[in-house]
Amino acid sequence: MESPATPPRREPVALAEALASFAELWSPRIVTTVNDYDVRVARVEGEHVWHTHDHTDEFFLVLDGELSIALREPEGERTVTLSKGSVFTVPRGTEHKPSAPAGASILLFEPTGTMSVGDRHEEVPGHVDATTGHALS
Ligand code: NI
Repeated sequence: MESPATPPRREPVALAEALASFAELWSPRIVTTVNDYDVRVARVEGEHVWHTHDHTDEFFLVLDGELSIALREPEGERTVTLSKGSVFTVPRGTEHKPSAPAGASILLFEPTGTMSVGDRHEEVPGHVDATTGHALS
């Protein structure tokens, strides 16, 4: 949470081009920053991993496809489904597992340095990248 702020990108970024520039799944790319937050995009398909961000909310925007997010809340487990153009914020401390059986492209907004698999997580499967986000090439 103490990562230094990265300056915002100095040129516009076309999200479609950014998404087309890599193929890895569940491996977010940082497209720009806002103060001490990253704007990240990711291509996703299949299941991520149950994990929890202890200190930050996590914002999702679905750019294409459909994303489901399973949530373990005090009242029990539920799943929210986000269609293209939908946004949802997972509250800090809420265990969650995103999934996209048919694939999706998503935008994430979260503090720089936030781990994609949270502060606590189940065993990370091989197809999930545990990262604080990669630079766009
Ligand atoms: Ni998360």
